[in-house]
Amino acid sequence: MRTTLGLLLATFAAASAAEINVIPRPVTVVPGQGAFRIRSNTALVVAPAAGAAGRLLASRLALKPSEARNARDNSIRITVDPSVSIPSREGYVLEVTARRVEVRGNSEAGAYYGAQSLLQLLAPGGGSIPCVRIEDYPRFSWRGAMLDPARHFLPKAEVLKFIDLLAMQKMNLLHLHLTDDQGWRVEIKRYPRLTQVGSIRKETRVGLEREARGFDGKPHGGFYSQDDLREIVAYARDRFVTVLPEIEMPGHAQAAIAAYPELGNTGEKLEVFTRWGVNKNVFNVNENTILFLQNVIEELFPIFPGPFIHIGGDEVPLDQWKASPAAQARMKELGLKSEIELHGYFIRRMDQFLTSHGLRLVGWDEILEGGVDPSATVMSWRGSKGGIAAARRGHDVVMAPNTYTYFDYYQAKAPTEPLAIGGFVPLEKVYEFDPVPSGLSPEEARRILGTQGQLWSEYMPTPAQVEYMAFPRLTALAEVAWTPVPQKSYQDFLRRLAVYEERLRALGVNFRAAAKQ
Ligand code: ACM
Repeated sequence: MRTTLGLLLATFAAASAAEINVIPRPVTVVPGQGAFRIRSNTALVVAPAAGAAGRLLASRLALKPSEARNARDNSIRITVDPSVSIPSREGYVLEVTARRVEVRGNSEAGAYYGAQSLLQLLAPGGGSIPCVRIEDYPRFSWRGAMLDPARHFLPKAEVLKFIDLLAMQKMNLLHLHLTDDQGWRVEIKRYPRLTQVGSIRKETRVGLEREARGFDGKPHGGFYSQDDLREIVAYARDRFVTVLPEIEMPGHAQAAIAAYPELGNTGEKLEVFTRWGVNKNVFNVNENTILFLQNVIEELFPIFPGPFIHIGGDEVPLDQWKASPAAQARMKELGLKSEIELHGYFIRRMDQFLTSHGLRLVGWDEILEGGVDPSATVMSWRGSKGGIAAARRGHDVVMAPNTYTYFDYYQAKAPTEPLAIGGFVPLEKVYEFDPVPSGLSPEEARRILGTQGQLWSEYMPTPAQVEYMAFPRLTALAEVAWTPVPQKSYQDFLRRLAVYEERLRALGVNFRAAAKQ
């Protein structure tokens, strides 16, 4: 009898556990028995400090929020309580019993994440929530994705949709790669030609660059006005997503040089670049150019929340500086022995400028090569090497290695996959990523702020294609960024993903089904 009862209970617990499909997987999940049923008269009680979580639940559950009162039956209650003992500012406790639901965040963000978990406990289309107690908080504070509207412009509506998807999986950072050789995508009022000229290229390379198959003969353009960006930033803020702008320098600069030729090294009249790949047309290092770029960045200060501003720094061919009498004279004047040191000087000038405004520079890992102060945060993209070196030198680090987080790489080998830049980063590989490389001391490991997925868009001409490359790999990365290593399991992730895919489908996301060959 005891055995039968035990077995029954065990079976029940397993059945309950199987209903807990939250992604990213929470830190602790203790399944209970039974379920809370949402009725039309269920009270949604929202503390004033938990407004964002309340709005999310009100809109998704079609309930009207009311002000905080004492706990009572048939209610969903959301509060912010900084004394909730969770080791993160983004943590929450979620308790579901058959009588009531309680979400307690230790910050407004924590309450919001508790609400997101609550929505994922509801079966898609269902009205009941399995009884459970969840205690949860993120492993990393930087849980991001990078969109590249420079290579193919993304309409504002798609950016807003993407922010909702980030928030749904508890990601908190959107990096916008706003400028590149092929397009300048941000309105700068002081320098209108950046968008008048720099936001439109006359045509685009067809197929892979190395195949040199010609051009499509169609103009490509688009940019965000400062008002658009304010709207994007506000929308993101409501969902606890920070928007990080990137203005590329001194490389990936051809669209800007096409608009203002005095920024270049050769005086040649350039057009906005129509091909892909690393480009020799880089900014010069004249004082006027440095001031120009600082003025550009300064216009962004009131729009973006900070504290980080990304200045690129990657893939800077040194040929033009080697050949330029002005660059050589500048090096001599500054006592610099090589063009790499000139690159370092350029980055340090930007770092000093940002630091003097209370902001922090982020750059791709090349910024380490010319010497940069530890105030700069390093985004490690050429594998994890740069991140390891940076952490050892006392920099903060974001891990964005191409080997795990470049979602412009192929995700499957099937010949039916759409054209991609190359590489191979399948879902399971993303899931296995650990942003903290082995061999770091505990102090160095604390320098790793987190990770983000890259959606370089040379071969993503449409929003649908961006979604196809992002999902579900970015969903796997969300779990990498949130869930402690001992709680991770790829098999269990796939089980939960099957339900998550239904949610993505309902939201009209063009994901690649994990089960597809
Ligand atoms: C990069 O992929 N060039 C950062």
